[in-house]
Amino acid sequence: MTATSPSSAQPAPPRLVRTRAELAAARAELPGPLAVVMTMGALHAGHASLVEAARERAASVVVTIFLNPLQFGAGADLARYPRTLDADLELLGRVGADVVFAPSPDVVYPDGDPAVRVSSGQLGTVLEGASRPGHFDGVLTVVAKLMHLVRPDVALFGQKDAQQLLLVRRMVRDLDLGVEVVAVPTVRDDDGLALSSRNAHLSPLDREVALVLSRALRAGEAAAPEGASAVRRAARDVLVGEPLARVDYLALVDPDTLDDVPEHFRGPALLAVAAKVGPTRLIDNLPLVVGAAR
Ligand code: PAF
Repeated sequence: MTATSPSSAQPAPPRLVRTRAELAAARAELPGPLAVVMTMGALHAGHASLVEAARERAASVVVTIFLNPLQFGAGADLARYPRTLDADLELLGRVGADVVFAPSPDVVYPDGDPAVRVSSGQLGTVLEGASRPGHFDGVLTVVAKLMHLVRPDVALFGQKDAQQLLLVRRMVRDLDLGVEVVAVPTVRDDDGLALSSRNAHLSPLDREVALVLSRALRAGEAAAPEGASAVRRAARDVLVGEPLARVDYLALVDPDTLDDVPEHFRGPALLAVAAKVGPTRLIDNLPLVVGAAR
């Protein structure tokens, strides 16, 4: 087979645009409906599944790659966040993104840090927000800006970042942004580890330790028919068995309010966990039904 035969042809790379004007010109040529997948780069199979889900729902797919400084706290891991644009473009070509918008910070924030931002309110102060003050204000501000710049019909977000997904849904509803928000299930490695760009920082030992998060969630899920206390106990028991994982929180919450569910609660809930493994902070969650019949 020669290098030019059709079966060995490489998929077309997506069109890369860097400026607002380039995005507007590319956007004008795309047939609707249009889906957007927003990312910070360092793409993996979880992002690929977002793009594939977008392809199923829309005629055109725009992927944004922007490492948003606004959502990183002082001294947080912005500097060590992996930057892999060439590999990202290659992956996006394979999964069929049409346009990639990869602006620099001065394109997104031409006047520097924005004086006016979206407030994530009380929902943005719990769980992840408690450890990362201001994080969700930064996320929502950039998501709102990217929605205005891309003007999608639908935006896809991963269930892995459940609190972000909830807040984006609330923002779209509360501010009438007119974009359909679609959740895409978490993609896991065969051993259960939820895919995350941060996994690149895990040493082989850290990666073994990190498996305790998904194991704890599965133990909680198995105990769900016995009620909320059983879920919390089962998940906590797994976590305490791995002292190298420094647990930030383990929470069983209402998926809409993020309030802890009471002891006698029955119904849909979210079991969420965050822990530091080595220098890397990891999160994971599982939607489950508490008190359901076996
Ligand atoms: O989930 C992410 O990668 C980011 O928080 C997002 C949604 C791209 C906003 O910067």
